[in-house]
Amino acid sequence: MRKKVTIVGAGNVGATAAHWIAAKELADIALVDVVEGVPQGKALDLLESMPVERRDVQITGANDYSQTANSDMVVITAGLPRKEGMSRDDLLKVNAKIVSEATEQAVKLSPNCILIVVTNPLDAMCEVARRKSGFPRERVLGMAGVLDSARFSTFIAAELGVSVDNVHAFVLGGHGDQMVPLPRFSTVAGIPITELLDAAAIDRLVKRTASGGGEIVKLLKTGSAFYAPSRSIAEMVDAILKDKHKILPCAAYLQGEFGIRDLFVGVPCKLGSKGLERIIEVKLTPDEQAALAKSAEAVKELVGALA
Ligand SMILES: NC(=O)c1ccc[n+]([C@@H]2O[C@H](COP(=O)([O-])OP(=O)(O)OC[C@H]3O[C@@H](n4cnc5c(N)ncnc54)[C@H](O)[C@@H]3O)[C@@H](O)[C@H]2O)c1
Repeated sequence: MRKKVTIVGAGNVGATAAHWIAAKELADIALVDVVEGVPQGKALDLLESMPVERRDVQITGANDYSQTANSDMVVITAGLPRKEGMSRDDLLKVNAKIVSEATEQAVKLSPNCILIVVTNPLDAMCEVARRKSGFPRERVLGMAGVLDSARFSTFIAAELGVSVDNVHAFVLGGHGDQMVPLPRFSTVAGIPITELLDAAAIDRLVKRTASGGGEIVKLLKTGSAFYAPSRSIAEMVDAILKDKHKILPCAAYLQGEFGIRDLFVGVPCKLGSKGLERIIEVKLTPDEQAALAKSAEAVKELVGALA
């Protein structure tokens, strides 16, 4: 039987994730959104592209969860963007309610699924999904690190004029400006970038990566990035559904790893058919450890504001 992925939120990120997943023929897809006609319309449009792409994938869209039953994975991208006059805490509470309801509805019909949370603020939304689902940490992960490291890789490749295929960037910590890039573990053809770029250049690329989301928002004016985020979702789906044992940076619920407990923080995760198979710990320098602790502190603050 073909695998099945539910995507909650058929907005820019959710619908484009469906596109990547379908184009790669990874799984059948159930799109869910509250706006009447949107998940149905986008699902049908995408389905009608499959004969041209020569892919056999079923894609459905609905405003309820009836078609999502027995999904292998559920990706939650539903949420509202921050509106004028809305504080960060207001947004936190609005999106927490959306993620909580989405989790509840989805896991009722797919009790064995692996949850991938995408809605911001990411690390806190992962905690909402973990609490609501009652799932073990192996089955609740957040997408952010794949995106942050893809952005870092883009800038490294451009700076050195090399193929993106040669670049492996390594990031830890929370999403966006909470990200902790690790240049000494970021490599080009196996060579650490610290051997290829001076400290000022690395600092410039790191800063651009950390504000990578904001750079796109500024250009788009309405809405935020979705091509790279949705491709990053597909990467995690691919690693899990194909049981690849692939190491990707993801938000995972730490239980003492990197000296952090009971919090979602971005770390290198080995992904396979059971979800999180292992967290790969590396020895950090005191500066890196301090940056990670600061990032974790920011997540803790947000999670504290959830109650
Ligand atoms: N983790 C990351 O790296 C990352 C990257 C990009 C975007 N994001 C986040 O992903 C989320 C989605 O971004 P987007 O650009 O697709 O936004 P969008 O506004 O285009 O789409 C969000 C969709 O969610 C839907 N929605 C709202 N409430 C819902 C509910 N209760 N049930 C089902 N659907 C519901 C909306 O109708 C809308 O279609 C945002 O929170 C954004 O900040 C995270």
